[in-house]
Amino acid sequence: MNISFCCTNVNPKAWLAELSAALPEHDIAVWNEQDPDSNPPADAAIVWSPPQAFFDQQPQLKVAFNIGAGVDALLQKTLPTALSIIRLDDAGMSVQMAEYVVQAVVRYFRELPTYEQDMREGEWSFKRPRERGDFTVGIMGLGVLGQRVAKALQHFEYPVAGWSLSPKTLDGVTTFAGDAQLPQFLQACSAVVCVLPLTPATRHILQRSNLMHLRAGAYLINVSRGEHMVEADVLALLNSGHLAGATLDVFTTEPLPPEHPFRHHANVTCTPHAAARTLRGESVTQIATKFKQWAAGTPAQQLSGCVDRARGY
Ligand code: NAP
Ligand code: GLV
Repeated sequence: MNISFCCTNVNPKAWLAELSAALPEHDIAVWNEQDPDSNPPADAAIVWSPPQAFFDQQPQLKVAFNIGAGVDALLQKTLPTALSIIRLDDAGMSVQMAEYVVQAVVRYFRELPTYEQDMREGEWSFKRPRERGDFTVGIMGLGVLGQRVAKALQHFEYPVAGWSLSPKTLDGVTTFAGDAQLPQFLQACSAVVCVLPLTPATRHILQRSNLMHLRAGAYLINVSRGEHMVEADVLALLNSGHLAGATLDVFTTEPLPPEHPFRHHANVTCTPHAAARTLRGESVTQIATKFKQWAAGTPAQQLSGCVDRARGY
């Protein structure tokens, strides 16, 4: 079978070498945008944020494997109607996400930014230890990544709450579901972690009217997509002190412009969309396994990570 590779901001050489080694009986070629006629008609694609032309020129595509967990950029394209999309299902990302979120929560709970600032200013002072049982961490999104984050936080004995679309029962997690329970969920949180997919229903969910439900002096950790935030609202709530701090890995515009206020705000920690990186080795193994199952006749809908295009994730 022919497989077309089109991944924006990814060096194709190493990927192609590993994919070809994992799928030796298939022809994998980098899609050539400049010379569309030179592209062999492919049944399957391996993609990350491809241009619209990629789909316009390949209406015959049946399945696309996304080399990331989020498919928002893909679903904003006009896609062949019958195209199935398979996203990465963990592939080494959940442990990274857990690590990233735990370090941010621990920094806030233990007031490390304040201690670090005090030390820079020549101080030697102590804060009264916070009550762990009174520092509930809320996780928006209880999927592959959110559930791993919940487990990691439980290890440090934080009370954990979670919010998802459908109701869930998770050991030791106080769960909430649907729009109706969002205020109740947020009211319980001293820190909130956003690990939702970006869909029409979740875009701008981190806006003033929702964030005002958080306890005063709460912390925001956004590791999903920048467009979950109304950035001006987040900044205003940081400036008013309603949010005591924010750790932001994702932004409406990426790369985050050098002059953006988030970069310079004393209570904001920014990273360059690096919370959970795509790991090539694990991703190639996962994609090759699923591709072989699909090529052998398993319907795409039965593969783990198959996206529900209507639902948006
Ligand atoms: P997932 O397994 O599909 O989980 C998504 C979760 O969000 C599910 O629990 C789902 O609820 C919930 N959800 C979706 N729409 C909702 C809504 N309208 N209201 C309430 N809950 C809703 O996704 P994942 O693999 O955990 O990945 C999540 C996101 O992380 C990705 O989409 C991507 O944007 C982001 N990400 C970021 C990085 C980074 O480096 N910053 C890396 C990887 C991924 P149900 O359980 O009820 O379906
Ligand atoms: C990264 O943001 C991903 O969606 O995998």
